[in-house]
Amino acid sequence: MNGTPELRPLGNALGMEAIGIDLSKPIDDATFRWIDEAFAANPVLVFRNQNLDAAQLLTFAQHFGAPQEHILKKYRHPDHPTVSYISNVAPDGSIDLVANERATAWHADETYNEKLPRLAMLHAKEVTSEKGGTMFADMRAAYAALPEAWKAKITGRTGTHRWLAGPARSWAFYRVTQEEAMANPERYHPAVLRHPVTSQPVLFVNPSHQTGFIGIDLEEGERLVAEISDFATQDRFTYYHRWQVGDLLIWDELATMHKGAGDAPPLDRRIMLRTIIHPETQPLAYAA
Ligand code: SIN
Repeated sequence: MNGTPELRPLGNALGMEAIGIDLSKPIDDATFRWIDEAFAANPVLVFRNQNLDAAQLLTFAQHFGAPQEHILKKYRHPDHPTVSYISNVAPDGSIDLVANERATAWHADETYNEKLPRLAMLHAKEVTSEKGGTMFADMRAAYAALPEAWKAKITGRTGTHRWLAGPARSWAFYRVTQEEAMANPERYHPAVLRHPVTSQPVLFVNPSHQTGFIGIDLEEGERLVAEISDFATQDRFTYYHRWQVGDLLIWDELATMHKGAGDAPPLDRRIMLRTIIHPETQPLAYAA
């Protein structure tokens, strides 16, 4: 490690900048240990002024686990399918206005899969002239502040998740094949999980892909997911990341929810690389 990196807070609720690391270069063990510890304490960690191509992004990502291919094939990088583009630029160079709406509802990634990701990364290549941020909610803090009645109702319970649920349902309905839909049945995850790295209890709801909870009436479950998610995404638990070209942001998929703010001038170009990383050990434990 060349000099000790430093941390600088970015937001009130969460968001921390890590200063003094060039991620395009090989990361030695001491530097990775520093990053890993900083990330355990700060589930949204930002490295500014980076310039990585897809292969370099994967080299960094592989320190944490195994990057996975995203369910939506059309966004995959042609040479590195475990990297996807988050982009509103169509292949002919025009702006894809539908892409501006993509992922603009609160969610955690891939809870419609049996195995949950540990973290994800976004690396900004082109940013909008203003706004165009990504928002993150701290689900550890949200659980700690959750009203006791809700805590008692969902702690120890299992959440039911499905790809074609929530707002993603109407977005995806016209874009997925029957095979893709059939390959994605309901999946089950703890509604409050014990974080595998920090052991903290984390509220694990996903208004974009959760249908409810086992043992709770469907309508009530749907309403609870919406109400608890609204509670968890109040300003006091959230951070708005305003992108600069070169930002590489990593977020904890278990300890946070996120969404694109969807507030940029619609005709501005916005291009990022993303990869989602799975841990070696599964499944996750329920918080007691
Ligand atoms: C995402 O949900 O991974 C994308 C968020 C964004 O586009 O800001």
